[in-house]
Amino acid sequence: MTDVQVPEDQPVTAGDGTAPLLSVRAIRKRFGAVQALQGVSLDVHPGEVVALVGDNGAGKSTTIKMISGVETPDDGEIFFEGQPVHLTSPAVAERLGIQTVYQDLALCDNLDIVSNLFLGRELHRTLIPGLPKLMRKSEMEKRAIPVLKELGINLPPLSTLVASLSGGQRQTVAVARAVLWGSKLVMLDEPTAALGVTQTKAVLELIERLAGNGVAVLMISHNMTDVFQVADRIVVLRLGRTVANFVKCETSLDQVVAAITGSAEEVAIQE
Ligand SMILES: Nc1ncnc2c1ncn2[C@@H]1O[C@H](COP(=O)(O)OP(=O)(O)OP(=O)(O)O)[C@@H](O)[C@H]1O
Ligand SMILES: [Mg+2]
Repeated sequence: MTDVQVPEDQPVTAGDGTAPLLSVRAIRKRFGAVQALQGVSLDVHPGEVVALVGDNGAGKSTTIKMISGVETPDDGEIFFEGQPVHLTSPAVAERLGIQTVYQDLALCDNLDIVSNLFLGRELHRTLIPGLPKLMRKSEMEKRAIPVLKELGINLPPLSTLVASLSGGQRQTVAVARAVLWGSKLVMLDEPTAALGVTQTKAVLELIERLAGNGVAVLMISHNMTDVFQVADRIVVLRLGRTVANFVKCETSLDQVVAAITGSAEEVAIQE
């Protein structure tokens, strides 16, 4: 057996022994007749990039939805900063410092970059009571620019319409939006799936910088090159279950692929 079973009842510490920021323990979720998750456990530490991998339908997106409060588990526990949490809505997760970048990104094409960065949190001022409040764009730009600069995020002028951006730039806006709010944990569902080589490199570098700033990152990817480039650990799901938890520098592509496909177990059974 090449893969390592994840203990369901105790946190898996990082190499340096720090406590995990997020601990997911034995979560289960059923959608009608489909048992989507049947025992997912994983940890993410501050400043760590964890890649969540597995075949189509393995339960990766469902796992992220449990942590972002979009869905609630039927069973199992989620701990954040050592405390059990009930993530009953995305607002609850966001208040804790959990931000998610979904594959479809959910950007508003008809708005400019700064409005997308502040979507749902626009700064308002009332000019005449009873009239709709206006966004203070200059104030929003003033707040956003230093954060973007600190993270080395390069974007066109913030007044540019999102509709005119490339895929990589859109992805960057989505990641920037997630990190602009003092996030402790950023989750990304296939952040480089639609990107070219240069854009992929830029997004992966941004992920590395986030982790360098102490943010915990949980990233879903099918791209093993990306995974091996940025992840510190690789958690493998198969058929809704955590089947392996690899430290990247101690594992090989073959081992990860064997855990994804289950071929290691099949070989073991044949023998
Ligand atoms: N809302 C839902 N209703 C019914 N079944 C669902 C729902 N969401 C997910 N599933 C099922 O749960 C299983 C896991 O789906 P999930 O989207 O988490 O997989 P995934 O690992 O993200 O796959 P992919 O790599 O294709 O994105 C699948 O069998 C899927 O059909
Ligand atoms: Mg998915």
